[in-house]
Amino acid sequence: MATTTPWWKGAVIYQIYPRSFLDTDGDGVGNLAGVTEKLDYLNDGTENSLGIDAIWLNPFYPSPQFDFGYDVMDYRAVDPQYGTMEDFDRLLSEAHRRNIRIIMDIVPTLTSHLHPWFIESRSSKTNPKRDWYLWHPGRERRRYPNNWMGAFGKRPWDWDNKTKEFYYHNSLPEQPDLNWRNPEVQKAILDAMAFWFEKGVDGFRIDVLNLTVKDELFRSNPYCIGRRPYDMQRHLYDKDRPEAVEVGKMMRRLADRYDERMLVGETYIFDPEQAAKFLGDGDGVHMAFNFSFMNSRFSAARFRREVSAWERAVGNRGWPAYFLSNHDNDRHITRYGRGKWTVARARVAAAMLLTLRGTPFLYMGEEIGMEHGRLKRHELMDPIGRRYYPLHHGRDGARTPMQWTGEPNAGFSSGSPWLRVNPSYPTTNVADQERDPDSLLTLYRRLIRVRKASAALSAGTYTPIDRVEKGVFAFLREAEGQKILVLLNFSRWQRRLSIQQDPKRFGKKVLAYPDIYAGSVPLARIELAPYGILIAEV
Ligand code: NOJ
Repeated sequence: MATTTPWWKGAVIYQIYPRSFLDTDGDGVGNLAGVTEKLDYLNDGTENSLGIDAIWLNPFYPSPQFDFGYDVMDYRAVDPQYGTMEDFDRLLSEAHRRNIRIIMDIVPTLTSHLHPWFIESRSSKTNPKRDWYLWHPGRERRRYPNNWMGAFGKRPWDWDNKTKEFYYHNSLPEQPDLNWRNPEVQKAILDAMAFWFEKGVDGFRIDVLNLTVKDELFRSNPYCIGRRPYDMQRHLYDKDRPEAVEVGKMMRRLADRYDERMLVGETYIFDPEQAAKFLGDGDGVHMAFNFSFMNSRFSAARFRREVSAWERAVGNRGWPAYFLSNHDNDRHITRYGRGKWTVARARVAAAMLLTLRGTPFLYMGEEIGMEHGRLKRHELMDPIGRRYYPLHHGRDGARTPMQWTGEPNAGFSSGSPWLRVNPSYPTTNVADQERDPDSLLTLYRRLIRVRKASAALSAGTYTPIDRVEKGVFAFLREAEGQKILVLLNFSRWQRRLSIQQDPKRFGKKVLAYPDIYAGSVPLARIELAPYGILIAEV
């Protein structure tokens, strides 16, 4: 699999939430065997599959599932709900046989409260694992040690009556944070990663890498103006610490001991400069997720601004990582939806994601335009939704089961699904879209092929084009003498534009929407349909 450009730069990566992908044993919960069964859908080496290069799997370690797998009880095993280690080995070898790489999710910041490490740690103040977690006696009269807030909205300190100290948990009380200043903790997590590297896993997505290390003195954060209590303080001391960048570097040193492994940090940070610090000087994680699209309106100018900021932050040496949807956020087709234009907008968004400079991460179901699920209160499973409904509906809407067919339960399970299937499945499903040459799925397949066939699109430079028509995001990608022009009409109006004065200059049209054909286009007189896409070699 050796290439001159590292594989992950040329790759399109597909995120799978295993719980919701495919259930092969009828218990209503997706499993690893289900992922293996669908590998051909993802890439069978022909044009009849999506054509992705790697899968990032959300956690499937043994877990009491308070946070659906992000509360790990054992970093070196498979939760029986998802199958066995043999199932994993089979998935890995079947994936590799198809040139699909496997990226796992490592959760270094916190464990389950039922992890043996925490059970030991909380057993007594003198236990050798006491210092593996963050314990604090609190201020006088059992007041919290400081003003920190938890990401899930509550105070992150819980009183442990047995040893009469607080422990820190940025997420749920069932997810105590590890003490990354302790070298034994560092070693334990790095060893767990090595365990999977030895098996042949191709990389890790690192859960909230920017939260791994906290201030040594537990200093309180300064207050500021914000909407939610969490945003009413500047998180100087509980997140984005420079020491967390070093954690990424430790992991990188480990990854570099093996061939062609990749690390992508979940750097849950909206400031690109801050997130890009995790790339180090080329010695940090290979990529850090750009979260700014989660807040972007559907606007050419806005996306262009976000991309420029990110390009500036990572520079030529760094490599961006873009996504529009994931398991924690509202699906983008719904965020950007506008009545009859909803699918057209999803098409432009897909074309942008798959033509930018940077590795695109697709979230399962976006390729068929699965809408964000709307669940009733009693149907909610996510602890955030259950706690904050109706203010916040939680993240279940992004996690509804994959819609394979128009049959009962969308072909996801023969049992009763753990989370209600989105009722849109009779009209939005893989089986129908595979047969439809105009479907969103067909467009994703085409875009992925076009990207992968082009050195410019998969690895080239990015140059935005100034002063084009309003509502159009225009840029050039270049590599190895190939120059690709990308025009994306984010408006519902037809746009006429000219990229060249010379009427004799033509671009070889690779892909355009709504008419898709391999013709040519006069660069002095381009017509872009509403939400039109043009990707042309110039
Ligand atoms: C980020 C994960 O993406 C999210 O799903 C999880 O709840 C938190 N980390 C806590 O681990």
